[in-house]
Amino acid sequence: MKTTLALYLLTTLTLFSTERLSAQNKFLETIQKNDTKWWKEAVVYQIYPRSFKDSDGDGVGDLKGIISKLDYIKSLGVDAIWLNPIYTSPNDDNGYDISNYREIMSDFGTMNDFDLLLKGMHQRGLKLIMDIVVNHSSDEHEWFKQSKSSRDNKYRDYYHWWPAEKGKPPYRWSFFDVNSDAWKYDAKTDAYYLHYFSQKQPDLNWENPTVRQEIYEMMRFWLDKGIDGFRMDAFQFASKVTTWPELPQGYEKNIIKYYGVGPHLHDYLQEMNKEVFSKYDIMTVAEGAGSTPEEAMLFVDPDRKELNMAYHFESVDIGKHINDFGLVKYKDIFSRYDQTFKDKGWLSIFLANHDQPRMVSKFGNDSVQFRSLSSKMLSTFIMCMRGTPYYYNGDEVGMTNIRFDSIEDYKDVDTRNKYIGLKNKGGDLKAFLEVQKQTSRENGRTPFQWDSTKNGGFSEGKPWLKVNPNYSFINVELQENDPNSTLNYFRSLVQLRKKDPVLVYGKYTILDKENPSVFAFTRELNDKKILVLLNFSEKESTFNIALPTSKFKIILDNYSSTKEIKKNTLRPYEAVIIEIK
Ligand code: GLC
Repeated sequence: MKTTLALYLLTTLTLFSTERLSAQNKFLETIQKNDTKWWKEAVVYQIYPRSFKDSDGDGVGDLKGIISKLDYIKSLGVDAIWLNPIYTSPNDDNGYDISNYREIMSDFGTMNDFDLLLKGMHQRGLKLIMDIVVNHSSDEHEWFKQSKSSRDNKYRDYYHWWPAEKGKPPYRWSFFDVNSDAWKYDAKTDAYYLHYFSQKQPDLNWENPTVRQEIYEMMRFWLDKGIDGFRMDAFQFASKVTTWPELPQGYEKNIIKYYGVGPHLHDYLQEMNKEVFSKYDIMTVAEGAGSTPEEAMLFVDPDRKELNMAYHFESVDIGKHINDFGLVKYKDIFSRYDQTFKDKGWLSIFLANHDQPRMVSKFGNDSVQFRSLSSKMLSTFIMCMRGTPYYYNGDEVGMTNIRFDSIEDYKDVDTRNKYIGLKNKGGDLKAFLEVQKQTSRENGRTPFQWDSTKNGGFSEGKPWLKVNPNYSFINVELQENDPNSTLNYFRSLVQLRKKDPVLVYGKYTILDKENPSVFAFTRELNDKKILVLLNFSEKESTFNIALPTSKFKIILDNYSSTKEIKKNTLRPYEAVIIEIK
């Protein structure tokens, strides 16, 4: 079996590399060289370090664990790793509350481990993208400790304070606060401080130029170590309207508009670019970027010199399950964004991350019958769209939502605090827990499933979060040697994307737009045309597209048996990539 797979991979890779060279040359003749960028061509693999691999048996994933899996990551064919925060943190929000930006969290290891990780990655040609959380820090950061110590401390203005003698501050909603109130009273100086996220995540005051300079210096510290880019966490909230006007009715429907994208946001990004990014060949990506494609463009229009690419939330914030919101609406989001970005700027394409449920549980079907097929179909989608694909660890083997029954199983500040808040108000806790089974972020954070041994091979100790019991049949080891596995299909997709620039740079056109089950589109570059057909339904579905009568070749499909397409019909969750000659 192993030999067969090796032969299969060798043949495919050889074919790909020869074909790739000629396609690439042709492409470079016609596209201006400065439009091509390594980060547009990269496939990014996101690692949630806490849950990836534990090397020392304390139940928490760590950097040495990631180092031990670098060959596996390389074998996926991906180019860059985005690591969730690994800095020192009291972990109120799993590392998104940083108490020291220049140290490694002891749970994860040491700076020496970090240096070894970076070296190991670069030796394998993998780039490292660090998550940087600078809208807020931890309340245990030295800056905040100083800031809260007295009203005239030199760090006072590093954060937003409202003196109590002015009365209660105008209400601001908080994402993670038990009472949903973003202002917390602090008796020491008789004032309130602002925290858009949890009480332990006070918002930094970006209007203070000294804060900005401290942050730029810290970013240079990591870049000088040789990292390859940043993912800017929650940065759209950094600039606020600091006259704190009352919020209008219905503000909840557009939180970003009232809470973020403030008057100086783009000034800050331009300053950051000038002072930091422009001095390195790196990749920068903004989490969330306004609420519309046009707003997202402002972050990444190359002429504005801010960031390289944006990811938006429209396609994940759309609802609990694809059956609830429907494919037509979903297709429309991607098509609108692509339309806005077709000539300039760049997007990222993702279906899941550490803040989302598992992709197969939300957009596919995680039943035994359809899990593998629908995972493959969704991976096909991500790898065939225009934009840099971000692929979340574990999705390559089809990991699913865990669906905890009890609040005790949850560790996440988001779920726990919402639960307490609801309980205090006498709300329906049962209904809340039912919804969490579909939406909770911890569905995507359960330990990585490596093999069928204890804890799925993640840890010798007691994992910090329960392992999904389905590890016994969903894991890397079982799929490694099966040429038809979800894992090896993902590898083939990555190779396909790398083989030919058409899937990276080619024009996107949606077909059969109103079809409620089939997502069909073409990608075109020079004389190359690729047609992608994806059935998002568990039923056979037809599509209304005139297929060419001759000269087309199926280059990849998730049933591994598709020779032809009969009567414009796709089988359940079928995905087919066709090259039209
Ligand atoms: C981002 C992160 C999320 C975190 C929040 C606050 O949305 O992705 O995990 O809780 O910011 O930092």
